[in-house]
Amino acid sequence: MKIFLIGFMGCGKSTLGKKLAAKLGYDFIDLDQVFEDQIASSIGEYFAANGEDAFRALESKVLKEHNYPSNCIVATGGGAPCYFDNMEWMNNNGITFYIEMPPIALAKRLEKGKEKRPLLRDMSEEQLIKFIESKLTERESFYKRAALIVDGINLTPDRALAQLSQTF
Ligand code: S3P
Repeated sequence: MKIFLIGFMGCGKSTLGKKLAAKLGYDFIDLDQVFEDQIASSIGEYFAANGEDAFRALESKVLKEHNYPSNCIVATGGGAPCYFDNMEWMNNNGITFYIEMPPIALAKRLEKGKEKRPLLRDMSEEQLIKFIESKLTERESFYKRAALIVDGINLTPDRALAQLSQTF
């Protein structure tokens, strides 16, 4: 069973994913990390050198060609579901789980680690909120194709498990 955690940057895919995997005895896979291991560099550097289109193409290839263990929780990059047929591919190959969170909450969580994220790095707080609002509007129709849509505020691993158990 593959479970794909999807949602905007900062919604907690990696944090929740690690805890869920530990509870279920599944492997945890962070696709941003798989991407970085593959290029032996950072996403930030890859973006700067090759541009977003090249990043999206390689991200899609990594998503579809990674050799997944049979049981795993996969944290995907925030943009991954919104390009090519990635969302359809995930729905055909596992359970998609959207961690939904409002822009203000995302902005608060992203303010700290924004240097690591090439799309956010140079933004002021106000620009960050505006950016999140407009990107989320753009992306929501993809995220909402998930098999499970879960409120990310105060989402605990146990609550996530309860949601998932409906699909097992
Ligand atoms: C991106 C999200 C990032 C990473 C890249 C682009 C996006 O992943 O894939 O910086 O377009 O939302 P996280 O959601 O894990 O931060």
